[in-house]
Amino acid sequence: MLNIFDILRKEHQEVNALINELISLENKDSYRVNLIEQIEKELNAHRKAEELTFYNTIKLLDADRDLVSHGMKEHLDIDRALETLIKKISFENQWKNFAIELKSVVQHHVEEEENELFTEAVTILTPDECVTLADVFVKMKARVLQGYRIHSDLVLDLMPQRVVERYNMTH
Ligand SMILES: [Fe+2]
Ligand SMILES: [Fe+2]
Repeated sequence: MLNIFDILRKEHQEVNALINELISLENKDSYRVNLIEQIEKELNAHRKAEELTFYNTIKLLDADRDLVSHGMKEHLDIDRALETLIKKISFENQWKNFAIELKSVVQHHVEEEENELFTEAVTILTPDECVTLADVFVKMKARVLQGYRIHSDLVLDLMPQRVVERYNMTH
C-alpha cells in the first residue's frame, strides 16, 4: 500500500514533468496556455491537500514547527512564481524565463520537503499512520479539484486516531 511519502513524491515528479513539458514548448505553441492551467490546478490542489493532511499532522505531533512554517512560506513563493508566469504567458520573449523560474522555485521546495520534512516525519509517524495519511490526502485532493471548500472537521474525521487526540487536547 502506498504511504503519504510515496504519493507526495509521485506528485512532485508529475508536476516537474509538466513544467519541463511547458519549458520545451515553442513560442508559437498556444497549447502552453492549457498546460499552464493544468500546472496551476495541480500545484494548487497538491498544496492545499498537503497542508491540510501532512503539514497539519506534523504540526500537531511534533515540536519542531519551523520546518512546517518554512514549507508554508515556500508554498507562497511558488504561488508568486506561478502568478508571474500566468501574467507573462502571452509575452513571447519572456514567458519561458518565468517558466524556468517556476521550475527552480518548485524544485527548491520539493528538495527541502523531501529531504528535511520527510526525514523528520518518518521519525514521528507510524507506518500505519503514513498509509492513513495517504488515503486522506488523496480524498482531500480530489475534493479540492472538484472545487469544494474543505472544512477542517472533515479532515479530522479521517485522520489517524493519535492526530485527533492531539488536536482535541490542544483546541
Ligand atoms: Fe509537496
Ligand atoms: Fe509542499
